Amino acid sequence: MIIQPRTRGFICLTAHPDGALQSVKNQIEYVKSKGELKNGPKKVLVIGASTGFGLSSRIEAAFGSGAATIGVFFEKPASEGKIGTAGWYNSAAFEKEAATAGLYAKSINGDAFSDEVKKETIELIKKDLGQVDLVVYSLASPRRTHPKTGVAYASVLKPIGEPFTNKTVDFHTGVVSDISIQPVDKDEDIENTIAVMGGEDWKFWMEDLKNAGVLADGVKTVAYSYIGPELTFPIYRNGTIGQAKNDLEATVPVLNDLLKDLNGTSYVSVNKALVTQSSSAIPVVPLYISLLYKVMKAKGTHEGTIEQMERLFSERLYTADGVVPLDDAGRIRIDDWEMAADVQAEVAKQWNQVTTENLADISDIEGYRKDFFNLFGFEIDGIDYEKDANENVKVPSIAE
Ligand code: NAI
Repeated sequence: MIIQPRTRGFICLTAHPDGALQSVKNQIEYVKSKGELKNGPKKVLVIGASTGFGLSSRIEAAFGSGAATIGVFFEKPASEGKIGTAGWYNSAAFEKEAATAGLYAKSINGDAFSDEVKKETIELIKKDLGQVDLVVYSLASPRRTHPKTGVAYASVLKPIGEPFTNKTVDFHTGVVSDISIQPVDKDEDIENTIAVMGGEDWKFWMEDLKNAGVLADGVKTVAYSYIGPELTFPIYRNGTIGQAKNDLEATVPVLNDLLKDLNGTSYVSVNKALVTQSSSAIPVVPLYISLLYKVMKAKGTHEGTIEQMERLFSERLYTADGVVPLDDAGRIRIDDWEMAADVQAEVAKQWNQVTTENLADISDIEGYRKDFFNLFGFEIDGIDYEKDANENVKVPSIAE
């Protein structure tokens, strides 16, 4: 089948299996180029393993540290005549490359919020790995059905208290315009967003894994958060999603307590703003990212998800002396280069000036757009998109 991108707003409805394979290979090559990670994890569970930071975490663990990995994700499988989602093709590519390298890799496709998928994962760990020494929690989802009550929660991306007006960009057309977002009109929206993106499900996972005896002595677990600049505070850190991130971060001491008798530790890592399927859904943020990319690329400090995860593992989680550097609030910071004062000052200056007319000059909107299509396996160097592609790619460990 000839597969071309088909987009609706910030969603791409198609994905390219060969592009996904190449993009996974590129990430693997990057990790290999950094050399072997000493003292790295050996048996790793990644929850949210098919795209974005979770996929890069899995690649870093496997190809940087030689780890056996189990990946959990929620993707649409491909079949004859039916294109699968990008995360499906990424996972197929990952398993293929892992097998070639002689690395154990199995995947579970289902709702990570459910008790069933937790049970299935535990059974697989028991059967194949015995225990895991790292659990990466990298879910990003607009909804969650609570496993104990059956209540379905939907998250919202809204400011709290006052309406928020700022610039935003349509990255397909390059039109910069003002957007006004009304604040939440009921506290329920805040609670629902916390229920979806907060720390409860991470806690449920860790409790279940611990009770099943599948966490190794000295286990580490890490989840991902974001802070960003003041200009996005109303929609991000001080908005509904920020309340969920506060809740996620507040789960760290709870998990440290839970893992104490295993000498285990839990962390939240604050990551850089990057183009992923999740971040492209947030208003205002894509324009900020376009300006940020331009500034960071000029300074030589730009990173993608794989560069971020490589630095997280080698310079934070698994340092030579075993010390994990944390900020005053107890968080890992790999958004340090994004938040550097000189970077932020330049972005803020450009933010005030950016218009539809000067967008292409003062921002890296082209880089944003390319990264967006790359997420779905499109515009990857070396792939001929006019060529027939086999859409019916299987994830080897998943029985149909
Ligand atoms: P993403 O959308 O690329 O990945 C989300 C992953 O979660 C995918 O593997 C997807 O299959 C999985 N998933 C979603 N719902 C699921 C479900 N019900 N069951 C099983 N798997 C499910 O997202 P991204 O951006 O990599 O986000 C991961 C984490 O990183 C999130 O906590 C996000 O807030 C955080 N983060 C993202 C930043 C960004 O700029 N993209 C910056 C800093 C933190």
